[in-house]
Amino acid sequence: MQDKIKTLTEKKELSKLGGGSTRIDAQHAKGKLTARERIELLVDKESFTEFDSLAHHHSDMFGLADNVPLGDGVVTGFAEINGKKIALFSQDFTVLGGSLAETHGRKICKIMDTALKIGCPVIGLNDSGGARVQEGVISLGAYADIFLRNTLASGVVPQISIIMGPCAGGAVYSPAITDFIIMVKNSSYMFVTGPKVVKTVTHEDLSSEELGGALTHAAKSGVAHFVADNDMHALEISKKLLSYLPSNNAEEAPFVSSEDLSDRKNELLNNIIPDNPNQPYNMKDIIRDLVDNGEFLEVHEQYAENIITCFARIGGRSIGIVANQPAVLAGVLDIDASKKAGRFVRFCDAFNIPILTLVDVPGFLPGAHQEWNAIITNGAKLLYAYCEATVPKVTLITRKAYGGAYDVMSSKHIRGDVNLAWPSAEIAVMGAKGAVEIIFNKEISSADDKIAKEEELVSEYNEKFANPYIAASYGYLDDVILPENSRKVIINAFNLLENKVDKNPPKKHGNIPL
Ligand code: HXC
Repeated sequence: MQDKIKTLTEKKELSKLGGGSTRIDAQHAKGKLTARERIELLVDKESFTEFDSLAHHHSDMFGLADNVPLGDGVVTGFAEINGKKIALFSQDFTVLGGSLAETHGRKICKIMDTALKIGCPVIGLNDSGGARVQEGVISLGAYADIFLRNTLASGVVPQISIIMGPCAGGAVYSPAITDFIIMVKNSSYMFVTGPKVVKTVTHEDLSSEELGGALTHAAKSGVAHFVADNDMHALEISKKLLSYLPSNNAEEAPFVSSEDLSDRKNELLNNIIPDNPNQPYNMKDIIRDLVDNGEFLEVHEQYAENIITCFARIGGRSIGIVANQPAVLAGVLDIDASKKAGRFVRFCDAFNIPILTLVDVPGFLPGAHQEWNAIITNGAKLLYAYCEATVPKVTLITRKAYGGAYDVMSSKHIRGDVNLAWPSAEIAVMGAKGAVEIIFNKEISSADDKIAKEEELVSEYNEKFANPYIAASYGYLDDVILPENSRKVIINAFNLLENKVDKNPPKKHGNIPL
């Protein structure tokens, strides 16, 4: 027996060694941690149970028969993060470049299958040269097996991808199907075709970082939801994110009681809206003042900054916040903002996270660029997402709610549950100037003093419509509230909606305007 125990111990030790000390040094020299170091930093102490540490490939192609690493370049298993069960895989770049083939893929699929059965989130730490070239089409098949599971798990358990090294070719599509992508600055990149191919085909000369680095995907493409300064920071972000989420779609979002009083007044908010309706202010100041301890986690912080999407807690309850940002492009809805917020609303709805919508929106962005790139289809994504969402929805209009954007931003008409406004709200089909130019065109052009006439009509229109009271008179708003009472009123609203049940008609699935 002692021999057998020795053999097992040796095998396990070998598996833990990964690609050996030289390759581990090379990994560290790039500023990257190893697969196991990452797991150690991510999960609760002693909570990791590894699966398949003794699994290996069975290929004899292109020299692989002489290189049969135990574990096959990926560490998989289950652990806890702040007491919450999770499934994880961590690709080991020191072993065959973390490349994915039959066994490596099967290991990932195994933990995903179990995660789905037990209802726990899946966290993928990606650091891989992609499809293992030696195993050819078998590697492609292994990727497809993962894509299928990513898709089936979507909306059932949260899936988080942390990109901590290369992620190229079709390999990018697994993270793309997951709910959130966290990328590390200067050491991770994602692209369908790398810089060399791009240079040959389009003559664009770009570095990996420029083409598909963290900042590129955070600010330009929106592929990355979070940017981390290094591996450790990426793991911290994933833990924070997880703290707002339920483990699966049958669970409620977690409740974390707070010292921050529910009836804390928001005196700051009484004076936050400028007298001049065209003057911006920072919506993040409002969010900070409303939520527990002023803490929130922004998703897509660098992308479409004219809309804010973030997780926070209010009265202890996890919520998702969607808020127009008047400080950027006047908070207008454009293609990117609609896509960003639409996806966020759908995530919250899939995982029972109530939504708070803060509205200050002048409308949809006009222009040929927007029309030709389908603001119609893309704007409809956000509209569809809100219409479809059955989680508790509380809406607060702080200032402008104009045109179609009024309807879209979780209005009463599309199943907003509690719709509120501050006295500073302006709710109308369009701004006063545009409106009087349409309605009073003849009066203005026949007036002796056209400018004075227009000013008079604009002020008349503003007095009549630039307020919340017409909407309130029709019940489109449930109440007009003092800004200083906002936190208390919003917490009460979410408490009221705690046991809300609402359903959509039975269907296979809807047809969101993709
Ligand atoms: C097998 C691989 C590999 C791969 C890297 N390695 N990628 N082995 N299959 N895909 C091995 C290398 O041979 C090397 O082994 C070790 O990993 C480390 O690689 P290096 O090149 O020394 O590291 P580095 O200089 O950091 O470069 C990393 C890299 C480069 C940029 C990722 O290795 C690379 O370009 N690899 C190929 C990437 C690729 O084209 N993958 C296929 C993408 S298409 P030794 O033993 O020499 O140290 C794809 C399709 C998926 O993935 C489709 C899904 C539908």
